[in-house]
Amino acid sequence: MDTADRAHVPVVVAIDGPSGSGKSTVSRAVAARLGLSFLDTGAMYRAMTWWMLANEVDVEDADAVATACGKPVIVSGTDADGPTITVDGQDVSGPIRGPEVTAKVSAVSAVPQVRVRLVELQRGCAAVALRGIVAEGRDMGTVVFPEATAKVFLTASEAARAERRAVELRAKGVDEATIAEMAADLVRRDAADSSRVTAPLAQAADAVLVDTSELTLDQVIDTIAELVEERAGRLTAA
Ligand code: DC
Repeated sequence: MDTADRAHVPVVVAIDGPSGSGKSTVSRAVAARLGLSFLDTGAMYRAMTWWMLANEVDVEDADAVATACGKPVIVSGTDADGPTITVDGQDVSGPIRGPEVTAKVSAVSAVPQVRVRLVELQRGCAAVALRGIVAEGRDMGTVVFPEATAKVFLTASEAARAERRAVELRAKGVDEATIAEMAADLVRRDAADSSRVTAPLAQAADAVLVDTSELTLDQVIDTIAELVEERAGRLTAA
């Protein structure tokens, strides 16, 4: 296939990896560079968790979560320059990043019915993305988009991930004790996300592994953008 033919195939870039590997920042920047839509699927699991907590569903009770998970209307805006997320029309982009949601999101995202529902929404977002989409999460390459144009598994050493998170939190004025607690929480969350039965965090057999520990943000973005253009032909931002 030459470049002109390939330009007609919808582009899906699947980016997976653990918390703190830089997935969101990198995925959004790659999408902006290539003129593609951007989907943060973690935000959808967080939005579902936020709704469960707001409606007093016991999130440790998988049956209760499964029964309720069809109710909230979750809408993701996929503009890479300003992604949005709403639940029943309410902007929840702030609250979904809070400690209550972060502490409970692994339990909610382990419930198979939650995943079925959100995977359907994720594929719907890709289907309407005009030029294609960069989707990031834990199971993009393995489950949601097995036929993706390019698959990337981003990693970074535990130390590098904890340090990046600490720098972000210090800049927000968070104290060192809380930063240490959040680092421990991140390790727990990754263990839970990697060991769950349904769609655990895993590298797809055909994903390219990119270790970001020693790379700058620009180097990671360049690496992924080059990989996508190698697979899809040249994409120029609109
Ligand atoms: O990327 P994040 O930290 O915002 O994701 C929040 C949680 O959602 C994470 O603990 C695992 C879960 N998640 C998932 O199970 N599958 C995805 N595709 C994305 C996120």
